[in-house]
Amino acid sequence: MLFIWGCFKAVSGRENIMKKELVSVILSACMAVTLLAGCGGSTGTASSAAGGAADNAGAAAAGAAAESAGEAEAGAADEAVASETAADEGGADSAEAESKEATEAAEEGESAEAAEAGAASSAEAGDLGLLEGGKLIAGTNAAFPPFEYQGDDGNPEGFDMALIKEIGARMGLEVSIEEMEFDALIAAIGTKTDCAIAGMTVTDERKQNVDFSDSYYDAVQSVLVPIDSEIATADDLKGKIIGSQLGTTGSFIAAEIEGVDPREYNKALDAVNDLINGRIDAVIVDRNPAAVFASKYPEQIKSLEGAGFGFEPESYAIAIKKGNSKLVEGVNAALKEIHEDGTFDKLVEEYIGEAEE
Ligand code: ARG
Repeated sequence: MLFIWGCFKAVSGRENIMKKELVSVILSACMAVTLLAGCGGSTGTASSAAGGAADNAGAAAAGAAAESAGEAEAGAADEAVASETAADEGGADSAEAESKEATEAAEEGESAEAAEAGAASSAEAGDLGLLEGGKLIAGTNAAFPPFEYQGDDGNPEGFDMALIKEIGARMGLEVSIEEMEFDALIAAIGTKTDCAIAGMTVTDERKQNVDFSDSYYDAVQSVLVPIDSEIATADDLKGKIIGSQLGTTGSFIAAEIEGVDPREYNKALDAVNDLINGRIDAVIVDRNPAAVFASKYPEQIKSLEGAGFGFEPESYAIAIKKGNSKLVEGVNAALKEIHEDGTFDKLVEEYIGEAEE
């Protein structure tokens, strides 16, 4: 009875037509349970069937994104829950409406019971629009030290990895990392991943396909050249063979240089190796990775500040599925906390080893 009272209470402020619909939903639910009980031979069977369906609903909701097929399943199971409750109230024999209607209503998530059952399980999966409830799947390309690189155990490590785990922890989400080519990160958002964190520069082009969190790091491109190279200005780059990582801002800049012979690599390190082997004249890559590569091969290459080449300042942010403002808000709130309590500076110190300006 409580359930029915709750339903009326829920709609008491609305129009009569809503009440009518609701009554027919409840009646339909009763009818459905009558049928179930009839088939199973006892209400006990109907109840346990409904219980099983409810369990499935939880699993489906936990494992599926809000818009996925899982929701339809959960809706159907919620209908069974509603039926069970109605049966307990002894109203089964008064059913008159078609059970089809109940199915439709439950699928549309219109019943109070469906809303209530969905609330807890979809709090994370539904509200944040995640692919899997309680889990933040972040894409990266772990070939960009110090932001992301392969750790000794083969798993991605680095500043971005530590940052996204911290963000996940603050949001009460488990974080899992999906490694892929940098070029594939944006397309993967919404199907394979929930976001991308990869030292990714915010650009207008990218903004057409994804939304970005607040920026978390300032960057600029640098130019890596052989230690004895005479390249020093933007003019010197004209007509040169210039390497960069495919799909990066470095590659966009390289492509614009007059008379350039651009070479794109899946990894910046592959470009660096070609630079060391004398196959190319320069590599354009973000400042911090450039510094890491230069310090790895100090006898062979040096890193030149991008400002001297007129490169524009850039900033890194986390890319999120376009339109998912809830996830953007959640990530930004976590980022803010991480800044405010000093964790951000600690991570910068630990992984980047320089003060963030
Ligand atoms: N900041 C540059 C960009 O957004 C390069 C990022 C490369 N990141 C990586 N994980 N490989 O285009």
